[in-house]
Amino acid sequence: MTTASPRAGTHAVCPGSFDPPTLGHLDVIGRAAGLFDRVTVAVLVNPDKRGMFALEERLELLRATTADLPTVEVDTFRGLLVDYCRDRGIGAIVKGLRAVSDFDYELQMAQMNHGLTGVDTLFMPTSPAYSFVSSSLVKQVATYGGDVDHLLPEVVARALAAKLAQR
Ligand code: PNS
Repeated sequence: MTTASPRAGTHAVCPGSFDPPTLGHLDVIGRAAGLFDRVTVAVLVNPDKRGMFALEERLELLRATTADLPTVEVDTFRGLLVDYCRDRGIGAIVKGLRAVSDFDYELQMAQMNHGLTGVDTLFMPTSPAYSFVSSSLVKQVATYGGDVDHLLPEVVARALAAKLAQR
């Protein structure tokens, strides 16, 4: 009989812009938390791209919406995702795939990232209920008065309404 060798706890990252987090993001994060011992949701710090939500607001929204997941933490990263993973001993990148159209670019990035440091990317099909949901579409629809509340965690829907009311 063979005995399994002890291994370090598994740690995955769910990277993204999260401007703002949607129920599609939360679906993937929650399911990743069920598969890995530890999950870090890492928000890209992109000085060249100003989003609707400031970095600190996105972090707050992510912390609020993942508060019920004790093994999930929220962080930021800048530069290459592979460097972030290597520095923290993160062995897997988890990416949600909404449709086949996501696959081309995601595959390219996954292969590039694997070639750089050997880190693996796992693709998680999003739940069909969220397959059409993206942060950019949600913002666009909400900007012109469409109802997107059912696609967002409650705290995010409130934050988005407040943001649009300021305009
Ligand atoms: O939510 P997004 O904007 O689709 O997330 C894209 C993100 C942040 C995951 C991706 O752009 C990324 O990993 N950026 C970090 C820079 C990097 O590592 N680029 C090389 C990718 S092969």
